[in-house]
Amino acid sequence: MNRLFTLSITALLILTTGAFAQKSPVKKAGVAKPKTPMVTTGATDGKTVYLQNCLTCHQADGGGVPNMNPPLIKTDYVLGDKTRLIKIVLNGFNDRVEIEGEMYNNVMPSLNHLTDKQIADVLTYVRSNFGNKASAVSATEVKKLRGK
Ligand code: HEC
Repeated sequence: MNRLFTLSITALLILTTGAFAQKSPVKKAGVAKPKTPMVTTGATDGKTVYLQNCLTCHQADGGGVPNMNPPLIKTDYVLGDKTRLIKIVLNGFNDRVEIEGEMYNNVMPSLNHLTDKQIADVLTYVRSNFGNKASAVSATEVKKLRGK
């Protein structure tokens, strides 16, 4: 009797553990890929990508650092041609630009280790924050320009 009891407890434990083991990956997958509309996802993920990859130079408010790193506020580069903008992130940028009367000679490194989606999200974030109002950038647009 005693042995049977122990056995059934063991079986119950195995069953419970099994149920947990099965449940957790499903839950994780749900968190990693939320089924929210493109634009919302871009805004959220884009901010994270910005904080981790652009903030050190361009600052939290996109204001940049005078004579070192240009601002991302309503510049032609940010609001204008998406191809040129995407290429800046993919290939880096070293063009001696003049923005709002300040010269910028520092080199921006290539950030092509970021995925197509991360670049699309961060550029969408930049184009719709810091007082900017421009259309979203898609991962497909980034993909087309990678390696060019
Ligand atoms: C190591 C510092 C650094 C990092 C990190 C960096 N940039 Fe830059 N960025 C620069 C510099 C310096 C320039 C100007 C380059 C030049 O003078 O040719 C620039 C130029 C730009 C420009 C074009 C000029 C303008 O201000 O509109 C854009 C757009 C831009 N960066 C976006 C980004 C984005 C988005 C990220 C993150 C994904 C990023 N940068 C990360 C330093 C940086």
